[in-house]
Amino acid sequence: MNRFLFCLCLIISLGIMTRAQDFHSYANPSAARVRHIDLDWDVLFDQKILKGTATLTIERTSPDKPLILDTRDLKIEKVETSADGKQYAPGTFTLGASDKILGAPLTIPLPAQANRVRIYYSTSPGASGLQWLAPAQTAGKKEPFLFTQSEAIHARSWIPLQDSPAVRVTYTAHVRTPRNLLAVMSAENDASTPVDGDYSFRMTQPIPSYLIALAVGDLRFRKLGPRTGVYAEAPVIDRAARELSDTEKMVVATERLYGPYRWGRYDILVLPPSFPYGGMENPRLTFATPTILAGDKSLVSLVAHELAHSWSGNLVTNATWGDLWLNEGFTTYLERRILEAVYGRPREEMEAALGLRDLNEEIASLDDRDEILHIDLKGRDPDDGSTDIPYEKGALFLRHLEQTFGRARFDRFLKSYFNHFAFQSITTDQFVAYLKQDLLDKYPALSAKVPVDEWIKKPGVPASAPRPTSPKFAQVERQAQRWLSREIPTTRIATARWTTQEWLHFLKFVQDGFVSEPPASAGGSPSPTGRGLGEGAKLSAAARMGELDRAFHLTRSGNSEIAFQWLLMSIRNQYEPAYPRLEEFLLSVGRRKFIRPLYQELAKTPEGKQRALAIYRRARPTYHPIAVTSIDADLKWPG
Ligand code: BES
Ligand code: ZN
Repeated sequence: MNRFLFCLCLIISLGIMTRAQDFHSYANPSAARVRHIDLDWDVLFDQKILKGTATLTIERTSPDKPLILDTRDLKIEKVETSADGKQYAPGTFTLGASDKILGAPLTIPLPAQANRVRIYYSTSPGASGLQWLAPAQTAGKKEPFLFTQSEAIHARSWIPLQDSPAVRVTYTAHVRTPRNLLAVMSAENDASTPVDGDYSFRMTQPIPSYLIALAVGDLRFRKLGPRTGVYAEAPVIDRAARELSDTEKMVVATERLYGPYRWGRYDILVLPPSFPYGGMENPRLTFATPTILAGDKSLVSLVAHELAHSWSGNLVTNATWGDLWLNEGFTTYLERRILEAVYGRPREEMEAALGLRDLNEEIASLDDRDEILHIDLKGRDPDDGSTDIPYEKGALFLRHLEQTFGRARFDRFLKSYFNHFAFQSITTDQFVAYLKQDLLDKYPALSAKVPVDEWIKKPGVPASAPRPTSPKFAQVERQAQRWLSREIPTTRIATARWTTQEWLHFLKFVQDGFVSEPPASAGGSPSPTGRGLGEGAKLSAAARMGELDRAFHLTRSGNSEIAFQWLLMSIRNQYEPAYPRLEEFLLSVGRRKFIRPLYQELAKTPEGKQRALAIYRRARPTYHPIAVTSIDADLKWPG
């Protein structure tokens, strides 16, 4: 083969390798690519709709191809096109058939010179990416609240756009709200702007659509540090500011590790409890659940996580949802490095050990195809891909690289990776090629120790994977073991200096103890599935939970992670004194990570299923559409 042909083949094969297909978008960015969006809305709380225009600036490479956008449940009123913003002229459009997962393609034919398209539209009250809260669902109880959640493919339910993480845009927005409410976005927010119902925003750095975010409510702001702050409703703002007071320190620690924070300000918006996630890394403005406000900063790993996304995710972005581990695995690894820098190594070890435990539990129940880091999500809802695999298996892979090559080399590699791909969306193949070139090929002997292909393409975890351990947890286990075997009474468990992480480990260890060694006096035996308990053993486990509860008041715990773990155990072991608290929890919290497993656990027995349905009937109207979709499917909710 001559040199020219060889080069040509190389270029073509590289092109194929890096041009990954996004199964979750109808868009055709290789023919017409949106580069910038100007948004203009009225926020109509009484109708639960956003109404206005989206004006898209487009870069065209195939002059006769139309523009194809993603939409879901949008009402398109009319379309106009223009060349360079001159005189807009009426345009035509067709809205295709709606797919359950993807929504409907909006095809807009473009005149020869056109590079701007203005779409007049409104959202639907059931938009999957919006939650409209009645005053009763807020902390203040007086004003309504609206927030968005665009990741993974919900931006299309409130903006007609190319809803692929491989398409990056800058944006401006002009938002009109009721006069006494404040609007904030994942953009430049001026904390001193007058509250007058008329707000303007701009995001000048190119971001993927899933990072476009808006919230409107009766919000207050508190400064945390020179470039950090917190927004929340008035009754929550002081508690939020105290809890999040280490935020600036975290930004400084992350910069030391991975280079400058590139987004200007880092603020956090604490939302009402129906927010379906723990956190969402909207650039310049992380959205967070109020369930992290434990009173002792013990759940601020969530801030470390969302902040870390400012490098892994927002700066270097997964090109498709099958590459989610590039966002979440890297971020989980970074999160723990930040925790170590700010709170010390023992904290990192505990978090990593809890992560490994979750991973192993999840692997025990997942299909092989769902245990693969570079997951195939064709034909599936990308929200289904967010298991512990991209998070914990991804983080474990990076830990393996760190341990193999040494911290100094691996930190240098990560820093250069973030710089190299800054403001780009990349595939797993692009990461692997860069890893090879920038790290593996430099140290062949060390590289032989990391089975990169197995990590990325195979189910399970390689035999050579690290096994994070925690000396603090080893101590907890000794206490738990002695209590389980009744060597020490409940009052003698040395809990005085336990942190939330130690409590969580204790509870999980004790639960395992109930399953594998039901106390002899109970006369029960583990069920053949290993999970459930025989009736006698359950009685005894419930009695033992009662002992813990009397000593430590776990049913009343105000720490959401501990309460969740305790309530899960209460269902498993039929510990009835916790049932009223379970109901209260399910009726007041909408975070999917908590409520979904509780409903799933309830649904394992016929009586439990009845209780689950009775509670869900009341709670469902207060949950976010994303949580409702998951739990409807789990409980086979009619309709
Ligand atoms: N970006 C995710 C949330 C997400 C992922 C939404 C995939 C939709 C699809 C966010 O950064 C996240 O991981 N949140 C976690 C917090 C955590 C692991 C500390 C959550 O919400 O539980
Ligand atoms: Zn994340």
